[in-house]
Amino acid sequence: MDHILSGIKPTGQLTLGNYIGAIKNFARVQNEGEAFLFIADLHALTLPIEPADLNKNSRDIAAYYLAAGLDPKKATIFLQSDVPAHSELAIILQNYLYMGELSRMTQFKDKSSKMKEEAIGLGLFAYPVLMAADIVIYDSKRIPVGEDQTQHVELARDLVKRFNNRYGDVLVMPKAEVAKVGKRIMSLSDPTKKMSKSDPKGDIYLSDDINVMRKKIMSAVTDMEAHVHYDPEKQPGISNLMTIMSALTDKSFEDIEKEFEGKGYGDFKRAVADCVVAEMEPYKAHYEEIVKSGLVDKVLEDGAAKASVIANATLARVQKAVGLYNKK
Ligand code: TYM
Repeated sequence: MDHILSGIKPTGQLTLGNYIGAIKNFARVQNEGEAFLFIADLHALTLPIEPADLNKNSRDIAAYYLAAGLDPKKATIFLQSDVPAHSELAIILQNYLYMGELSRMTQFKDKSSKMKEEAIGLGLFAYPVLMAADIVIYDSKRIPVGEDQTQHVELARDLVKRFNNRYGDVLVMPKAEVAKVGKRIMSLSDPTKKMSKSDPKGDIYLSDDINVMRKKIMSAVTDMEAHVHYDPEKQPGISNLMTIMSALTDKSFEDIEKEFEGKGYGDFKRAVADCVVAEMEPYKAHYEEIVKSGLVDKVLEDGAAKASVIANATLARVQKAVGLYNKK
């Protein structure tokens, strides 16, 4: 069975983009292979974060995973920091990724361009090294992610090629998988920008009240074209709302265009809001139940124990390959 791996960084509130681009797919892939779905808490430290927020966000993500239908009997769900082998492997792998390629990463350029040079942590720069370790440590072949993470997965592929050329067939080659629809949900207030975890007006947060979600969709930026048509260049706002609708209902863009022919943007937005509410209302209720059940800690504990077995074996294989003495 192929190993499938993905994770989310607990830096802020999860968005509808995280849900459509990642979480929704996780529930599907757990039936298609051996899935490792984790919370990338060490990655969250690459930008300043309050300890209490990091702690709460991490447990929240686990609860949102379970609420989406992730089944701890099928998928291994765990915190990155509970499996120290990730960090140990990253220390080795950092020698096979180079400053030039790391400095060309879009995420690093975006994040660091907003910071003073003396405040940019080494961890932010070395982020893709730890991410590559996350991936290769489970011999992962399939990496379901949103579009913004594909560049990091490509770098992990370069690393595997480089490492295996030097040491033989030690690491498994991963491949990013992005959903056909919904790989990049855009901000509702500026549809030329990705929906991220840090734009309260343009983001729909999973923690938002249902009525707030509705309001945000009703005030989403559109255009003057006055017809519902998929054209991300000319009509980025409408195309984004169509993408949200399509991802949540499986309706094609053509079907949506037909359904709203001759109708105004008000009607269309109301229908998009209805789709979002229909998906989010039960999801949020399920999340609340999971939080109350106190299930999360046990799931994470068991998940870490299961993950560690494979992670430690890969780490030992790599240690041996590079010549670290006396490894099993
Ligand atoms: P993160 O936490 O930024 O995002 C988690 C997942 O959500 C996807 N995503 C989106 N998809 C569609 N539209 C959007 N607007 C949107 N915003 C976010 C992301 O592409 C991602 O799949 N570095 C990763 C976490 C990570 C990881 C890994 C992922 C650490 N190690 C190993 C895969 C494999 C991150 O910061 O994702």
